[in-house]
Amino acid sequence: MNQRGQRILLAIGGGIAAYKSAILCSRLVQSRIDVRVAMTRSATEFIGTATLAALSGKPVAMDMFDADHHPLGPHIELADQVDLMIVAPATANLLSRLASGRADDLVSALYLQASCPVLVAPAMSSPMWSKPAVGRNVDQLRDDGCHIIGPESGWLSCREVGQGRMSEPEQILEAADALLNR
Ligand SMILES: Cc1cc2nc3c(=O)[nH]c(=O)nc-3n(C[C@H](O)[C@H](O)[C@H](O)COP(=O)(O)O)c2cc1C
Repeated sequence: MNQRGQRILLAIGGGIAAYKSAILCSRLVQSRIDVRVAMTRSATEFIGTATLAALSGKPVAMDMFDADHHPLGPHIELADQVDLMIVAPATANLLSRLASGRADDLVSALYLQASCPVLVAPAMSSPMWSKPAVGRNVDQLRDDGCHIIGPESGWLSCREVGQGRMSEPEQILEAADALLNR
């Protein structure tokens, strides 16, 4: 993958798999992609903003009301001229917010503002993934034009094997590459 000059907005939700998004961010940057990172408040419980800021080379956005850096609003400025938005991990909570068109946090507002393709990588426990409400939200997002990748079956942090594991960074990169080159 070498996408020099292309811009990706990486939105990170609050799940264990957030650590994999640091690897994803680094690999995107190594592919010469301009990566902007937005995180939910919960995501910062799982991985620090300093890591993502250092890997992406830019401040990480989290707050809607960040007048110092984004006078027009970060949801406008960060979504501008973006070629692809990746939501990884997409928590059950985030899937619900995106599917229902909420805009009460920066990541969901960015999703509404973005006019580029959106790649969503859900990650959660197997019982959560199998709930009808989660399935409805994923179907809705697919109907809305989102590209869903995973989740895979395998070892989950709740010490069980089942479906819910976020796709590996390599798989997400491949899907991103395909979407950028369409
Ligand atoms: C240790 C721990 C691990 C969690 N892992 C997940 C997860 O993998 N997927 C998920 O959907 N929620 C997970 N949650 C719950 C979310 O963090 C919670 O629903 C949160 O509100 C998500 O916020 P966000 O969608 O704004 O990022 C976890 C919570 C804890 C305490």
